[in-house]
Amino acid sequence: MDGRIELIDVTKEYKHAGSPPVSALNCVNLSIRQGEFVGMVGLNASGKTTLARMLNGLILPSRGKVLVNGLDTADLAQKKEIRRLVGMVFQNPDNQIINPIVEEEVAFAAENLNLSPAEVRRRVDWALEVSGLADLRHHAPQMLSGGQKQRLAVAAVLVMQPSYLVLDEPTSMLDEDGRYELIKTLQDLNWHQRLSIIMISHRMEEVAPAERIIVLHQGTVYLDGPPAEVFRSPRFALAGLKPPPIARLTNNLLRQGHQIDDRIVTLEQMVEFLCR
Ligand SMILES: Nc1ncnc2c1ncn2[C@@H]1O[C@H](COP(=O)(O)OP(=O)(O)O)[C@@H](O)[C@H]1O
Ligand SMILES: [Mg+2]
Repeated sequence: MDGRIELIDVTKEYKHAGSPPVSALNCVNLSIRQGEFVGMVGLNASGKTTLARMLNGLILPSRGKVLVNGLDTADLAQKKEIRRLVGMVFQNPDNQIINPIVEEEVAFAAENLNLSPAEVRRRVDWALEVSGLADLRHHAPQMLSGGQKQRLAVAAVLVMQPSYLVLDEPTSMLDEDGRYELIKTLQDLNWHQRLSIIMISHRMEEVAPAERIIVLHQGTVYLDGPPAEVFRSPRFALAGLKPPPIARLTNNLLRQGHQIDDRIVTLEQMVEFLCR
């Protein structure tokens, strides 16, 4: 089957000599369609990073299977294509950038793909444009803000024309402006390029605009659904999490009998509703 990432009965145990195995994921079944915007949340050690790194084969399951558009991440012959299909952006932008000039950093990722120089140029121009970095292409990455660096990390993945972009707490080292611009860029990419976004965050207001939220708890998928339903579920609090302020406001207004759209979970949605 193509057009989705599937986890089938995935279990991951970390084993180190001399200590008992640590179970990070427990029989996880999950299907993420191409084009979806998924937020992933959960307390520390709930298994988020393990799951994220499994999506492109950086970590292989101890038991079970991960299929990317039908390709098994355990199949070494598919490794290169799976890494191209599923781009990764990590927490610390400084650890991801290795070239001295912004556009070289973006071109670098394309150069392993045996593309013509004209095609590399075309993809670099496009990736810089959609990441909002076109004006900074000749700058040194060290001169960029944290948010710009993370968008550079996104651009460097985009030149490979992935189908899925997985981001593991990409905003945790950014200031408020940087966070806002990164999330906005991801939303645009999802909307205009139909790029799947799978974003881990511990800030609920960042995952609230997603179309689907997955809650991990003790290595299992504890909740999975539209943001408003997930935030309202009693299990959300049982997983140790607290809904974002706008979702709490909506619930309070509903409880007081006000006529309000019960799907409102973001500030933008609330403003639009109030101005209608
Ligand atoms: N390389 C590793 N070796 C041993 N245990 C690990 C390793 N990576 C993660 N773990 C353990 O697996 C569990 C899940 O960790 P992780 O996937 O990093 O969760 P999260 O990203 O939600 O904090 C934790 O108990 C963690 O200590
Ligand atoms: Mg983590």
